Amino acid sequence: MAKKIVCGYVLTLTGANGATALMGQADSAIAFDDQGKILAVGPKTQIQKQFPAADCQDYGDKVILPGFIDLHSHPPQLDIIGSFGDQLLPWLEQHTYPKEIEFAQPAVAKKTAARYLRWNLQAGITCGVWFSTSNLAATLTLCEQAATAGVRAIIGKTSMDQHGPKELLVEVSQEKDQWSKLLEAKQAGTWPKVELAVTPRFAPACSKELLTFLGDLLKREPALYGQTHVSENKGEIALAAKVHPGHTSYTATYDDYGLLTGKTILAHGIHLTEAETDLLQRRNAAIAHCPTSNLFLGSGLYPLAKHSAQGLEKVGLATDIGAGTTLCFWETMRAAYGIAHLQDQVLAPEELLALATVGAATALGKENFLGQLREGFVADWQVINWRDGGVLENQIDQAQSSEDVLKALLALGSYRLTDAVYVAGERVWQAE
Ligand code: GUN
Ligand code: ZN
Repeated sequence: MAKKIVCGYVLTLTGANGATALMGQADSAIAFDDQGKILAVGPKTQIQKQFPAADCQDYGDKVILPGFIDLHSHPPQLDIIGSFGDQLLPWLEQHTYPKEIEFAQPAVAKKTAARYLRWNLQAGITCGVWFSTSNLAATLTLCEQAATAGVRAIIGKTSMDQHGPKELLVEVSQEKDQWSKLLEAKQAGTWPKVELAVTPRFAPACSKELLTFLGDLLKREPALYGQTHVSENKGEIALAAKVHPGHTSYTATYDDYGLLTGKTILAHGIHLTEAETDLLQRRNAAIAHCPTSNLFLGSGLYPLAKHSAQGLEKVGLATDIGAGTTLCFWETMRAAYGIAHLQDQVLAPEELLALATVGAATALGKENFLGQLREGFVADWQVINWRDGGVLENQIDQAQSSEDVLKALLALGSYRLTDAVYVAGERVWQAE
């Protein structure tokens, strides 16, 4: 079993069951094997003694952080970032749906997916939870491109059969057939780091029959994740109640079709009632908090503290491209900090990092092997060259503690500073 070492300033949360602590140390090292697992993390001298034959990549004083986990995004919407002016429902009709129709063209799917993946990796995102469009071939292209890029991904073919342009609607009978093909493609084993998610776009875009099929599919195939949108915008909530009357809430609509499980990720959840947060907890479902998207579409301020007081802790951050305005996770964390602050909650640097790493790994049920730089965990990390010759470098040069280093990165970090990205011990992105 070949072993390798990377050296640098290792900065990570470590710990179990939500009780993590920040660990940051100059001249540290990570040893990992060719299966992509971390064997040991510790002082460089000690690790080199422990693994004397291992190849060593020394990143000097660059910071090595766990890869970020993006709990919700739409790669096909890359080109519509910054479509100004509208809130959710008209924004979907005017900008999103036309772009998703274009994604059915093989050349568009390939080019958009390849670009998205490149910038996703540059942003240090080593695991993404993504909506494709409703088009099967384009979804397969996205899965193949994710495999080629080497990233971990959970991908869903967006299911919708009503309340949208006819080019995007797929009837239930066709959807069943396409899901069989998707499962067959997965079983062929050519994209081992890609998992699949049952993905109703949102309740208004799905008929009862479609929701029934998708809920049954989730029950039948326990390996599948589930993902959808919930309670993002007041107009959307009203539409969901109008299209699906007779449920006690928007969240209960999904539950009544068996779509809330411990492997379901719901994007947004800004305006949930207490009964809805209770229901999510009982089902052990997770929320993807999408700060830049919520600000850009004027959807609302995600009430992280209120949900936490209600016991809803399974939350991670997400870019939600193309409503979100950036793939940069430093910017995403800054927006989450601002949104919390506007509601009298001051998030600690460690809490922000947790939302992007260990918290998101917990949301995916992967907390025992993803999101920390620690023995037994996957070798997924990013290397940050913080020597920008400017304000960030000035801050980090003065840092007295690992928390100071993290604070400086949270205030001033940018995806442009990413030097290298590794997934399962393979370097999948390198700055030029
Ligand atoms: N709700 C249903 N579809 C979408 C989408 O594509 N983006 C966002 N932000 N919300 C949605
Ligand atoms: Zn979304």
